[in-house]
Amino acid sequence: MNTTATDNLRIDGQRLWDSLMDMARFGATPAGGVHRLALSPRDVAGRAHFCALCEAAGLAVRVDAVGNIFARRPGRDPTRAPVLFGSHLDSQPFGGKFDGALGVMAALEVMRSLNDHGVETEAPLELVNWTDEEGSRFGVGLIGSGLWAGAHDPARIAALTDDEGVSLRTALDAAGIGGGLETVADAPAPDAYFELHIEQGPILEREGETIGIVTGAQAQLWYDVIVTGTAAHAGTTPPSARRDALVCAARVIDLVDRMMRARGEDGRGTVGQLRVSPNSRNVIPGEVRFSVEFRHPSDAEIDRLAAQFPREAGFIARDCGTAIDIRPVLRLAAQPFDPACIALVREAAAGLGLKAREMVSGAGHDAVQVARRAPTSMIFVPCKDGLSHNEAESTEPGEAEAGAQVLLRAVLARANRPV
Ligand code: HGY
Ligand code: MN
Ligand code: MN
Repeated sequence: MNTTATDNLRIDGQRLWDSLMDMARFGATPAGGVHRLALSPRDVAGRAHFCALCEAAGLAVRVDAVGNIFARRPGRDPTRAPVLFGSHLDSQPFGGKFDGALGVMAALEVMRSLNDHGVETEAPLELVNWTDEEGSRFGVGLIGSGLWAGAHDPARIAALTDDEGVSLRTALDAAGIGGGLETVADAPAPDAYFELHIEQGPILEREGETIGIVTGAQAQLWYDVIVTGTAAHAGTTPPSARRDALVCAARVIDLVDRMMRARGEDGRGTVGQLRVSPNSRNVIPGEVRFSVEFRHPSDAEIDRLAAQFPREAGFIARDCGTAIDIRPVLRLAAQPFDPACIALVREAAAGLGLKAREMVSGAGHDAVQVARRAPTSMIFVPCKDGLSHNEAESTEPGEAEAGAQVLLRAVLARANRPV
């Protein structure tokens, strides 16, 4: 990468860190994490605050029909498609301060830094906060970016409900977000997309690297499972008469774990949510609902999991005398990122003298959906002990700053490239 006037441009690391701590106030938990579920009052308050910060930075803010927030900074050539960069502000129920928020606040820091130095880019720049990346509230992940990429059925998404029976449509209306979800995919494609994110795993920290040059993300397969037995008296019902939904669920959960371990260290199989009915200590459970997700770098392995799991879970249910309903929720193919965007991240890290390595993302990200419509890459920074989706999630100010610096350089290189 040849040296240009902007190579010496530095983001303000302290301002970035302060903005992260400021955003962490929205949904702050006593244990130091955040509880900011998509389109909840805490998320809506955080969104309003973020929009105000974007407007204070002179950006033109636009919110689409699913609540994706875009904020644009003009370039010299308005005919060029914008370079898009950002992440998500919604969190896990008891998540950390940095998952998603780092990418969004770093995007704002990039805009602020360009303003501070009076830098005008050739192409316009646009930052984004994607709605409901986590999927924790309505059960499907990557909702905002998935609708934008045309990967979700708008009617299905609008009808999704949370644990209280509130639909996504109702939550959007309550947040003052209108319009049909079918319009979200009408947005024009950007020139490219970059996303800064904590790694959410142990590799960078373990290897002493500062930057992850993300070449792609692994495949995912999500199910909702409903086991139906017969609720009955715990004291009077002999084994021969039991149709225990929880015993069946327990054996299916063990199956998920065995299928993961059969695939070695690349295997991923998780049951994160489980609800027992009637959930009374002296009643044999009549119904159990739980989530199942598998992940793997190889699509062929996901195909094998998709064939094996329903079949073997069905055998378990038959042996338990219960019914089982296995409902596909989400299927994401392994997503390679764009070589030119990967090269810009690699060159930016090298130009800054940062230790970096290439890697595939174990976590899903909005970038996976965006990559369906635009050249995309991601930048990772380490998180302490590789911990994420946990209130103790943390990263270092210097690491957050390094990641934002790489983001600035990659975005500038893309926006100023000759076309
Ligand atoms: O589940 C995921 O991979 C993402 O962190 N929400
Ligand atoms: Mn995330
Ligand atoms: Mn997450």
